[in-house]
Amino acid sequence: MPAITYEDNSYALGEGESVLDCLAREGHDIPSSCRSGVCHSCMLRATSGELPPAAQKGLKDAHRAQGYFLSCCCHPEGDLTVTRADDATQKVAARVLRKETLNDRVLRVVLETDKPLEYFPGQFVNFARPGGLVRSFSLASVPALGNELEFHVALVLGGSMSGWLHHEAAPGDPLELLGPLGNCFYVSGNPEQPLFMLGTGTGLAPLYGILRDALNQGHRGPIHLFHGALLASDLYLTESLRDLDGKHENFTYHASVRDEPGEDWMEQGAVDTLALKTAPDLKGWKVFLCGNPDLVKQVQRKTFMAGANMKDIHADAFLPAGGG
Ligand SMILES: Cc1cc2nc3c(=O)[nH]c(=O)nc-3n(C[C@H](O)[C@H](O)[C@H](O)COP(=O)(O)OP(=O)(O)OC[C@H]3O[C@@H](n4cnc5c(N)ncnc54)[C@H](O)[C@@H]3O)c2cc1C
Ligand code: FES
Repeated sequence: MPAITYEDNSYALGEGESVLDCLAREGHDIPSSCRSGVCHSCMLRATSGELPPAAQKGLKDAHRAQGYFLSCCCHPEGDLTVTRADDATQKVAARVLRKETLNDRVLRVVLETDKPLEYFPGQFVNFARPGGLVRSFSLASVPALGNELEFHVALVLGGSMSGWLHHEAAPGDPLELLGPLGNCFYVSGNPEQPLFMLGTGTGLAPLYGILRDALNQGHRGPIHLFHGALLASDLYLTESLRDLDGKHENFTYHASVRDEPGEDWMEQGAVDTLALKTAPDLKGWKVFLCGNPDLVKQVQRKTFMAGANMKDIHADAFLPAGGG
């Protein structure tokens, strides 16, 4: 069995174990969240040994060349010596500025930072709390519209981070932000391209950032945003989105409710079915899909089948911690 050397101790890697599992078993407090290679919170650096390519998937070339890797996806065939990777990710000190209720389960959390965070709306950052709890949240704010960082946080039953943010976090409470990460964001340069955005729940957070970024940058092509829910009360920011729909001729907001009729202006049905009925031919479109991992995966396939080019489909699956 390969040996993993960390902080001067060597451990035999168990059958099927990742480097993260092995170090956690030995009592080392390595931050982690998604355990699926998405959030990058488990990044370490190899100082000797050969890394399997899967452990460096999605990393910047410069990081790859320096031996950084994702320990949750690392199953090496030979011995490795590894260290922490504290210098690999941008870290920004932040404080809770205010919290606002968006619906029964969703909170808008606004943070301020000591130094401005450089990001594209729609990317995500990892919230790190003292004690090592790390969870990813998507940026709903737009830097060109102000320095405050906006997040939409759904309350998960028994959830460590969402529970803390909903019930305990108060203005002034500190948080460390790691990132930004992800490639689900608007890129200027093709202002006539039609945009298709679809999300459920707080999948709206990155879409709300991307939408306002595109409008703010003068995007001229049609933009359709589909926000789906089971019940009308699960939707949020409806007034703000209807207001943007009224102000921008090229933007259409589609709110849909699956399990009840909802209000007059809402559509009833499954969000993906309704969306693909509205936009059945996606050749030449840019697609953004965010939120529930199963839905994101399904709609990724459906939008590809409807003609969208794979490189134009950007997806952020909100994987639960532990790899769910
Ligand atoms: C790239 C990315 C972006 C994300 N962006 C957002 C965002 O903008 N807004 C947001 O609210 N969340 C977002 N998430 C999810 C977020 O990171 C956390 O997973 C979520 O807040 C739950 O964390 P927790 O600590 O409260 O719950 P945990 O303590 O991790 O979980 C408590 C229990 O609930 C289960 N659980 C966790 N999540 C769910 C779920 N969604 N449905 C059902 N059961 C669940 C767990 O398996 C566990 O049993 C994102 C995730 C990723 C990977
Ligand atoms: S990338 Fe390893 S825990 Fe998320």
